[in-house]
Amino acid sequence: MLCKTNEELNALVKEAKSFTSNGKVADYIPALRKGNPSNLSIAINYPDGLCISAGDVEKKFTLQSVSKVISLALVLIDQGSEYVFDHVGMEPTGDPFNSIAKLESMIPAKPLNPMINAGALVVTHMLKGATVSDRFDRLLGFVQELADDTSISFNKEVARSEVETADLNRALCYFLKQHDIIDEDVEELIDIYTKQCAIEMNCLHLARIGLVFAMDGIDPDSGKQIIPKEYARICKTFMVTCGMYNASGEFAIKIGIPAKSGVAGGIMGAVPGRFGIGIFGPALDDKGNSIAGIKLLEMLSNNYKLSMF
Ligand code: DON
Repeated sequence: MLCKTNEELNALVKEAKSFTSNGKVADYIPALRKGNPSNLSIAINYPDGLCISAGDVEKKFTLQSVSKVISLALVLIDQGSEYVFDHVGMEPTGDPFNSIAKLESMIPAKPLNPMINAGALVVTHMLKGATVSDRFDRLLGFVQELADDTSISFNKEVARSEVETADLNRALCYFLKQHDIIDEDVEELIDIYTKQCAIEMNCLHLARIGLVFAMDGIDPDSGKQIIPKEYARICKTFMVTCGMYNASGEFAIKIGIPAKSGVAGGIMGAVPGRFGIGIFGPALDDKGNSIAGIKLLEMLSNNYKLSMF
């Protein structure tokens, strides 16, 4: 995709960059420690094909939790919303993304929403496919279609690093299995989930995916409805209510754009009917969201009146 450097965006990135020093790269997945905390870049993709950017937009990063909204879209297509929401809830938690606390107090032990790790693991469990690799390949193919790039793959080092250290996610899976919410081999589920989180792309791809969500699931180039409108609506609603975890309320008030973050520093934004945003800034705040990425979105939202509320 051709993307033009934009002076106004450059100025905003320059200003937001000063906040990177207040954050830290994720360290609980060892391979993510290699991230450069001073990186910050943004791409904005419009339905007419125009793309504007600032920073090192070709730099690749892993999707991590941004993948949760994409796997949800595919599982909704695969299984329908009634089945999906029999297994995972629709409510924000107010807890950190990897918290196990609410699971134990819920009867049945159904995770509260698909954006927290417990809920995302149930979503990945529901992906259709004959084999474990088939399920992941279907998800990867869907990501490639949304980003319009068949060369997108996953970062093996990051996936391996997460497999080696994902004991909290394993604990969530065993809890869910004990309570009959999932019924597959935990290591197999962890294998697909970590590869899903390690899918790697740049800001341009992420802005392109955000654009498809912004345009109600329609691929702006081909006109194809990749995600049914109703499912794109559900995904964007989760991005508003749970996309930034226990910072989602403040984010909705200050910024007001459906967005999803990941611990590698990605944020995907979807401004309804207008454009998609891809941001990469690996220095995180204490809730696991890109600290300068949020600042950048706040400036954009204020300057260009982007809040949907
Ligand atoms: O499961 C995990 O902990 C990671 N693979 C993804 C978490 C994440 O990105 C949370 N986001 N801000």
